[in-house]
Amino acid sequence: MTWVNKLFVRVFKLLILISVLSELAKPSMEALGIKGQILTPESGEDYINATQRNSEVAVKKPKYIVFPDTPEGIPLVIAFARSQSLEIAVKCGGVHAAPWATSEGGIVIDLGHLNKVVVSPDKKSVTVQGGALWGDVYEVCKEANIEVVGGALWYVGVGGFMVGGGYSPLSGEHGLAVDNVLSAKVVLADGRIVKTSPTEEPDLFWAIKGGGNQFGIVIEFILKAYPPLGPYTTGSILYSGKEITKVLKAIQQNHTGKERLNIIFLRTPPDFSPKVMILPWIADGVDAEKSLAKFTQGDVKPLSQKIGTAPDIVTTSHSADAQRKFGPKRLTIRGTLFSDFYDELFLGIWDRWCNFTEKSPDVRGSVMFWDLTKPDKITQIGESDTAMHVRSPHYCDPASDALCDEFTSDVVSFARETNTKISGKDLGYWISLSQGDEKPEEIFGDNLPRLEAIKVKYDPKGVWNKGIVIKPQSA
Ligand SMILES: Cc1cc2nc3c(=O)[nH]c(=O)nc-3n(C[C@H](O)[C@H](O)[C@H](O)COP(=O)(O)OP(=O)(O)OC[C@H]3O[C@@H](n4cnc5c(N)ncnc54)[C@H](O)[C@@H]3O)c2cc1C
Ligand SMILES: *[C@@H]1O[C@H](CO)[C@@H](O)[C@H](O)[C@H]1NC(C)=O
Ligand SMILES: *[C@@H]1O[C@H](CO)[C@@H](O)[C@H](O)[C@H]1NC(C)=O
Ligand SMILES: *[C@@H]1O[C@H](CO)[C@@H](O)[C@H](O)[C@H]1NC(C)=O
Repeated sequence: MTWVNKLFVRVFKLLILISVLSELAKPSMEALGIKGQILTPESGEDYINATQRNSEVAVKKPKYIVFPDTPEGIPLVIAFARSQSLEIAVKCGGVHAAPWATSEGGIVIDLGHLNKVVVSPDKKSVTVQGGALWGDVYEVCKEANIEVVGGALWYVGVGGFMVGGGYSPLSGEHGLAVDNVLSAKVVLADGRIVKTSPTEEPDLFWAIKGGGNQFGIVIEFILKAYPPLGPYTTGSILYSGKEITKVLKAIQQNHTGKERLNIIFLRTPPDFSPKVMILPWIADGVDAEKSLAKFTQGDVKPLSQKIGTAPDIVTTSHSADAQRKFGPKRLTIRGTLFSDFYDELFLGIWDRWCNFTEKSPDVRGSVMFWDLTKPDKITQIGESDTAMHVRSPHYCDPASDALCDEFTSDVVSFARETNTKISGKDLGYWISLSQGDEKPEEIFGDNLPRLEAIKVKYDPKGVWNKGIVIKPQSA
């Protein structure tokens, strides 16, 4: 070996030493010894897959994506992130259309490995980890022949859904999802893991039921279980847009807590003319034929209908799989809540949606989605009994849109103003379908001061600072 070569080797060794030293000087994520998976932009396809979200609008490039295998790993990640001043984002199902469950350059705590579901021996409750999807829960519940109050679709995450209040197909019968939580476990901003229930940390229990992601990471929910309401009569009935006022009259007729209805404004090929589709969901014990008669007989004439029976909620939770696979990928979603199916509100939005989807073929795929659940059960719980304050009779209206934030924004403000004018009550916006530019008082209403005071105790330094941020301040 010539001296040149030797020198080269030395320099090379030195360089290695320097680089190892500098790695040691920097606290490393890998060195934390967390059980689970850690991905970085260097991890290739695994990393790319882990950045995916239901809406491509919500895809960002985090520095780390961590999948803890145990809840005990989470405090270590929080401590590391805080020591490096990295933003922390928490992801469960990743369906929220705003990018709150991801971060540009920060750390994503992906709860995907924490998805265990266990039914209690007496089958009266189900323990669900905070990273489960509703599909995980429904599969296990089906085996035990029980149901819980969860999301309509299997791929919605339990975590984000629950902290947003939770409208379920079963809400007409059993109330909101948060009204059926018996207790929960939360990782706090300071790393402590606490149990919360009506008697343990009761303020925290109140706050996580509709207060969003602002109070900690819920790693476990214990949910009340019920005997199944199925089999379900479900399917779709399609009408030409020319029938809109007749369809509205049919929708406005009475229904029970066992009948849920979704209404969609959509354009379908080949002509792409405006159409209305209704998706009924009728529990066992209701005369389905009688319930559906108002949509198919008399004045109103469907273009087509497909009605059948689904044995259980696992089956109905797969009803949108085709739309998910083949529908638009860039989703801008906003929604608001409204008190009733007022003509002015419904037809005003029809008008706006028709005009918007005329604009270009690009936005033609935008749909307007209405959810009609009998509100009586939901309103039995007081507006300040949980952080989810919207309790006066209302329905919820997830507006789905392909491209134009301005349109969704315009429609939800129109809906809010019209509803306030007619019902005399301003319901504001709903966190689960909001984008982040709404004001906290528009989301939390009169419950905001209490949430701000609880924030002083559980997150005084504002570690949870994504989404609808609540300031820690005493009342
Ligand atoms: C196709 C579709 C269908 C929907 N259907 C319904 C419905 O039937 N009923 C209904 O009520 N809503 C529905 N929603 C709204 C949905 O509940 C919210 O978007 C919810 O935030 C999604 O939860 P996620 O865990 O999948 O989302 P993510 O994007 O993973 O998270 C959303 C927010 O919740 C936070 N979060 C997630 N997990 C936790 C946790 N364990 N602890 C604390 N914070 C957490 C995240 O940090 C983020 O801020 C639907 C949305 C879509 C797109
Ligand atoms: C990433 O996702 C794609 C599409 O779902 C899949 O085909 C591929 O196997 C995934 N890659 C890894 C490494 O899991
Ligand atoms: C709906 O039910 C209420 C109360 O039961 C009743 O007063 C009202 O007339 C009903 N309306 C229709 C359209 O059937
Ligand atoms: C929709 O377009 C029609 C025709 O151009 C117009 O008369 C109407 O005012 C528009 N409606 C709204 C809500 O913009």
